[in-house]
Amino acid sequence: MNNGGFLFDTDGSVLHAHGGHIIRHGEYFYWYGEDRRRDFYVSCYRSADLKNWEFRRHVLTVNSSPDLSRNGRRVNIERPKVVYCEATGKFVMWAHYENGADYTEAAACVAVCDVPDGDFEYHGHFRPLGHMSRDCTLFTDPVTRAVYFISASRDNADLHVYRLTEDCTRVEKLVNVLFPGQFREAPAVFYRDGKYHMLTSACTGWAPNQGCHASADSMEGAWSPLLPFGDETTFHSQPAFVLPHGGEYYYFADRWGGFPMSHPFDYSKSSYVILKLSFTETGSPFIEWNDSFPDFN
Ligand code: GAL
Repeated sequence: MNNGGFLFDTDGSVLHAHGGHIIRHGEYFYWYGEDRRRDFYVSCYRSADLKNWEFRRHVLTVNSSPDLSRNGRRVNIERPKVVYCEATGKFVMWAHYENGADYTEAAACVAVCDVPDGDFEYHGHFRPLGHMSRDCTLFTDPVTRAVYFISASRDNADLHVYRLTEDCTRVEKLVNVLFPGQFREAPAVFYRDGKYHMLTSACTGWAPNQGCHASADSMEGAWSPLLPFGDETTFHSQPAFVLPHGGEYYYFADRWGGFPMSHPFDYSKSSYVILKLSFTETGSPFIEWNDSFPDFN
């Protein structure tokens, strides 16, 4: 398996799960992500070992709701993330919603399901508390159990951190405005040894750029300044999420449009970069290139 290349499911088909998220539930991992083919939006794959991925279904499609097509045209659903809501026992998806023509809608959308890999029930799109909302992620605080939605706001200038309501389907409060004026995208949050960490990219469309890292003692408190993470193109990748597993942490990222990047841009050439995180003595994450995808042992 060549890092930076395609992944394949257990049927031998190309795995389509970009800008996505993996959660663990029961004995399986579930990988959600963008699938832009035909009338699909969000795909779901399942694996017991993080290596063999069985396609389960398209959990969100053009047919999930009238709001998911406009004048017979696809809208744009990006960076779908799913959280298991402890209060309701449901699986709640948040994603970035655009009108399909440009990026001016700057909204979030929510969909809910009783099982991890069923048809998600679409709940609509909106701007959280009226704020623009583009690149996004979800994070469950393992200490407080609060669930946060983090998204790029003010035309991507700021990253907003919202605490969600108990049922995880709405925003309760804007609790932090991070890196104001620094135009950060692709947030990926994880917790390790008492610290909250965030990886983000700069804002250069599909083209990869220098990743950055910041940390904090709490999601709602002060965050450190951003410091570089990876090389000047983050090894030709943009963060999707970080997966904690077996005491290790894995950086999952998208390599949009292939390498070298296709011109004109061809989304279907997008592939994956997955790297095990290393940590400095003071707990800062870093990555080194590895030609192979991790073995997750
Ligand atoms: C990136 C963003 C992607 C996608 C892309 C479109 O900056 O992270 O999710 O929106 O722009 O150009």
